[in-house]
Amino acid sequence: MSAKKITVVGAGHVGATCSQLLAMKELAQEVVLVDIAEGIPQGKGLDQWESAPVEGFDTRITGSQGYDAAADSEIFIVTAGIARKPGMSRDDLLKTNARVIASVSEEIKRVAPDSIVIMVTNPLDVMAQVALESTGFPRERVIGMAGVLDTARFRSFIALELDVSVEDIQALVLGGHGDTMVPLHSYTSVSGIPLAQLASQERIDAMVERTRKGGGEIVGHLKDGSAYYAPAASAVQMAEAIVKNKRRILPCAAWLQGEFGLSDLYLGVPCLLGENGLERIIEVDLTDEEQAELETSAEHVRTTVETLENLD
Ligand code: APR
Repeated sequence: MSAKKITVVGAGHVGATCSQLLAMKELAQEVVLVDIAEGIPQGKGLDQWESAPVEGFDTRITGSQGYDAAADSEIFIVTAGIARKPGMSRDDLLKTNARVIASVSEEIKRVAPDSIVIMVTNPLDVMAQVALESTGFPRERVIGMAGVLDTARFRSFIALELDVSVEDIQALVLGGHGDTMVPLHSYTSVSGIPLAQLASQERIDAMVERTRKGGGEIVGHLKDGSAYYAPAASAVQMAEAIVKNKRRILPCAAWLQGEFGLSDLYLGVPCLLGENGLERIIEVDLTDEEQAELETSAEHVRTTVETLENLD
């Protein structure tokens, strides 16, 4: 099963890694890279297509500055935005990226009104809301990528700590992306064995802390730039669940309408992904402490949305 066309908006580090992964997994017959930077999507798209004979995929990859090439795409993975430059405040970045996402959303609505949007640009929970409002799409078709990445980081650290296969590790990380994430300990297991039986609370706390600061740890190494391999892999996993109608349950940022007692904001929750996008939000039981952490996370997202509204 594959899509006819998937478009990746933003041909930077995350976007270009997405397009290569989409092609290598043959998740679409055609992958289109769109970016405002002249020549970049064309050059990267052609370079990736030239890897097709070696890798053995038939997904055509092309690049474009405009959106006509993206017409009728089933899925858009949106990674467009700017990185924070020296002297630029967080608020400036927020405003600039919100403008980028609003304009990208207008184009998506114009060329592919039935598509599903996977938002990757940060601050993710807020940018997903901008896309929801600008496209006018239902919440089923605007989903944010955050939880898959945070969960992948947590699982990768557990695998290192216990020296076991990543394949056997199940985990669920909810809430906002990064600092305010909410790892659900009772839903974390290794081949069904609760994590608490395999690692001390102290070690678990250390892994949670490392996961919370996972993005910063990569920036610390790279200095100029942020993570892209794991973020791209996470977005592509969501696209795969949709394209193949796998009905996977993955933690994604969804527009809440009363779930977990929260409404009118994007927050990471367990989502069932299938051919219609967000098929269902699974309301798992939370401890009082986890519920409180989720509400703190929600407060954080609301504050950023308010900041953005006040900037306009
Ligand atoms: N339309 C299309 N592309 C745009 C636009 C726009 N209006 N504005 C900027 N871009 C492009 C840039 O030209 C650049 O190629 O978005 C790309 C962003 O790429 P990078 O700067 O390499 O950023 P990247 O590391 O890929 O991160 C992108 O994903 O994980 C998040 O926090 C990260 O918000 C960031 C996003």
